[in-house]
Amino acid sequence: MRIDVVSIFPEYLAALELSLIGKARAEGLLDLAVHDLRDFTTDRHRTVDDTPYGGGAGMVMKPEPWAQALEAVAGDEAAGGGARPVLIVPSPAGAVFTQAMAYELAEEKHLVFACGRYEGIDERVLEWARDRFDVRPVSLGDYVLNGGEVAVLAMVEAVGRLVPGVVGNPESLVEESHSDGLLEYPVYTKPSAWRERAVPDILLSGNHGKIARFRRDEQLRRTAARRPDLIEKLDPASLDKADRAT
Ligand code: ADE
Repeated sequence: MRIDVVSIFPEYLAALELSLIGKARAEGLLDLAVHDLRDFTTDRHRTVDDTPYGGGAGMVMKPEPWAQALEAVAGDEAAGGGARPVLIVPSPAGAVFTQAMAYELAEEKHLVFACGRYEGIDERVLEWARDRFDVRPVSLGDYVLNGGEVAVLAMVEAVGRLVPGVVGNPESLVEESHSDGLLEYPVYTKPSAWRERAVPDILLSGNHGKIARFRRDEQLRRTAARRPDLIEKLDPASLDKADRAT
């Protein structure tokens, strides 16, 4: 998968050189490049923002540097008639990012992330980009960050780890939170007794059927307590008789 990130703070994205995503890049599983928006300006001051038409607080990102940057990272493809790259514009005004969206994006060949700052990017950039990209404004959640960079770190990590080969043991993707619409069960390791707290007996029993049932019950209980909205959204067909009793 190819990923391009455009930002006025490319250093922010340095964390993508670390850990699993960094390793996937080194191994060629992810072809990820970070670009400085200011490299696509033409004035001496490398200006990327200006005052908003209609007045109001703050500054708005100018359209032309964005068009130059987006053409540079996906110019040929856009003209080539193949699958359009996906342009993700992080914004608190976007659709909320979910695990389902991460799975969808992990199937794409080319993702481009446009990190806005200040009050956002001139709206005409998004309109213009629709001819070339599948444009998706996406929010990390219902709160406001100072810019798109932190949201991109989260999204690239969530999507990147679903690309085949990035996570060494694909089994670990199956039993994690949100993979089946539920939160994941609690986990324990050695020692079995720690500061007067014991690991639940069932987990030491070696009875795999009972362990699976215990874990499933914990998932259901935890989800009902912490995220009742997820219980509402569950497909009733995904619940067995024992689930319904929990
Ligand atoms: N930029 C500012 N706030 C954001 C949010 N909540 N999600 C994505 N990008 C943002």
